[in-house]
Amino acid sequence: MSKERNAPSDERKYFLQVLQTFQSYRHQSMLRIEHREECLATLPSRHKKWLSKYKTDLEGFKKAVDTNASFVPIVVEHAKNIFENVCSQDGTTHSETEVGTLSEGLDKVQSVFKHLMRDWSTFGAEEREQCYNPIIEEIEAQFPAETSNRADINILVPGAGLGRLAFEIASRGFSCQGNEFNLFMLIVSFYVLNHCKNVEEFVIFPWIHQYCNNLSAENQMLSVKFPDVLPKLTESQFSMVAGDFLEVYTDCDEWNCIATCFFIDCAANVVQFIETIYEILKPGGVWINLGPLLYHYSDMKNERSIEPSFEILCSVIKNIGFEMEKKEIALKTRYCQNPNAMLQYEYESVFFVCRKPLNVDNCAS
Ligand SMILES: C[S@@+](CC[C@H](N)C(=O)[O-])C[C@H]1O[C@@H](n2cnc3c(N)ncnc32)[C@H](O)[C@@H]1O
Repeated sequence: MSKERNAPSDERKYFLQVLQTFQSYRHQSMLRIEHREECLATLPSRHKKWLSKYKTDLEGFKKAVDTNASFVPIVVEHAKNIFENVCSQDGTTHSETEVGTLSEGLDKVQSVFKHLMRDWSTFGAEEREQCYNPIIEEIEAQFPAETSNRADINILVPGAGLGRLAFEIASRGFSCQGNEFNLFMLIVSFYVLNHCKNVEEFVIFPWIHQYCNNLSAENQMLSVKFPDVLPKLTESQFSMVAGDFLEVYTDCDEWNCIATCFFIDCAANVVQFIETIYEILKPGGVWINLGPLLYHYSDMKNERSIEPSFEILCSVIKNIGFEMEKKEIALKTRYCQNPNAMLQYEYESVFFVCRKPLNVDNCAS
């Protein structure tokens, strides 16, 4: 939720636009397939003959979109209970249908299906092992069950995505809060975390919109089931908070641990993220980070993005006041990857553990 959308009526309008975008997923995705069918229809008849399997595949893609789309109304129905204040009538006349959809929205809905694979399917287990396990193992080593009452250890996961890392931390007995500002993610994680009733209840096609670099149409039509586990936890153990990390977390010395995974490069100014992490950690608290430096604002026009290298970041981290206790490079990590595609992205992520010294009084001013 951006800074520009502070007025309740703006918030409500944006929320309704997100719902509307979810609801337009099937139609918009089908339009793209139909466009390909139209292109095919214009080809010379011998090309069409040779491409008959491709025509059949397009029918298969439509069925897959239909399956993905069947999850949308279920999610949207429950979304209305997430933010009572945003959803309730506030005197404005915005109705769900008149607000329209978001121009960049279809990509976000499609991306949610890939994140469901990453966070909540058995298929995503390997990716989670690469990305989440080093963080979880470090947390467990920092706060052993034998010497700490884990329910009293407050852990924050900013940029929580669909919530699996935060859920895994909470299910090990810690008090964990995920934070996320992308409403598409929040709406889907709310459903998975609170309303899924059975393991592997849903089937989705995470890569159905990835038209390039497929060895076979079957690879594009790979399906996964979710959730792989039923996320049942109490509110005292686990919560998800909506909003911009920089705006929501302003109280000093609050967290025993902050865990960031594929997150710090989401800042236009990464230094501001690190400074905030430092301020809100308790003295003696730890920041555990894993991920690349794929600075998200890097190529965006009109954004004041900076992209310091890891080497520079390490000196910034020290200047802010952290003590870096562990630093590893080149951890092979994937992100929402279709393992069968011809193009494979693999990050050589950095992993580090930083401590805020015990004897600091940064919140005195
Ligand atoms: C690259 S994704 C990583 C998600 C998850 N940690 C994972 O590893 O799958 C980064 C997430 O951070 C969220 N995010 C980015 N900037 C944020 C901010 N300022 N406040 C809260 N969430 C933010 C994005 O919406 C996105 O879901």
